[in-house]
Amino acid sequence: MTAAQSPSSTLATSTAPASPLLQVEGLEVAYGHIEAVKGVSFELHEGQITTLVGANGAGKSTTLLALSGLVKKRAGRVRFDGRDIAALPPHKIVRSGVVQVAEGRATLTTLTVNENLELGAYTRSDRGERAADLERIYTLFPRLKERHNGLAGNLSGGEQQMLAIGRALMARPRVLLLDEPSMGLAPIIVQDIFRTLRDINAQGLTIFLVEQNVRQALRIADRAYVIETGEIVLQGSGRELLGNPKVQDAYLGS
Ligand SMILES: Nc1ncnc2c1ncn2[C@@H]1O[C@H](COP(=O)(O)OP(=O)(O)OP(=O)(O)O)[C@@H](O)[C@H]1O
Ligand SMILES: [Mg+2]
Repeated sequence: MTAAQSPSSTLATSTAPASPLLQVEGLEVAYGHIEAVKGVSFELHEGQITTLVGANGAGKSTTLLALSGLVKKRAGRVRFDGRDIAALPPHKIVRSGVVQVAEGRATLTTLTVNENLELGAYTRSDRGERAADLERIYTLFPRLKERHNGLAGNLSGGEQQMLAIGRALMARPRVLLLDEPSMGLAPIIVQDIFRTLRDINAQGLTIFLVEQNVRQALRIADRAYVIETGEIVLQGSGRELLGNPKVQDAYLGS
């Protein structure tokens, strides 16, 4: 009998939910007297897109920065793949597989597209596979391939965002973190970015997306959290939250 046919294994999969790949519990971050994040808990499940949405100043970026180890946590636990990573320095968090896309499309404008992508692999020791990864990323972003020898500074805003995502992918993440990748881009380019995130996710990558573009983020999210003044106030599937009257009133203008 195969595992799939076994009654006990069927029972096991239906009663025991998969444990999260990454779990944050009771995260608190303060900037001096400002309590930016006040005990936030959430889970990322392998192969899913999870989104954290909220208004200006709600604490989204701070949550991401804390996850990446770039701001000090006042409290909270972060378990990733069964391991406590809360106290690790940023470079070790990256090396463990939790990689944040550079904020504000901060590509290195005086380097070429190719050089930017190569830099993304700097934490890795397996140099042999870099060329294959580069090809994979150029397949994902044909526009970047066309311009591989061009300076990143000459790319459009949308192309720079793609490059920032490509650079993060070169680090071979197991979880990709993004802070408002749609910010400042024309709606048609925003569609491109979200489609790309879905493609990357379809290849198996776990994604944690912070967004102010609530509608678009909820549309692609398997799991979603709403943050208001440093606290999670709602959670559910993306579809559930899209249909939630409170979300519609406060964030979807309907
Ligand atoms: N470096 C800082 N020093 C002091 N206060 C800060 C700092 N960074 C953020 N804050 C404050 O912390 C709170 C949360 O900010 P955060 O940037 O995390 O919000 P956000 O949800 O990412 O907002 P936005 O959508 O505008 O990017 C806000 O009140 C903000 O003013
Ligand atoms: Mg922010």
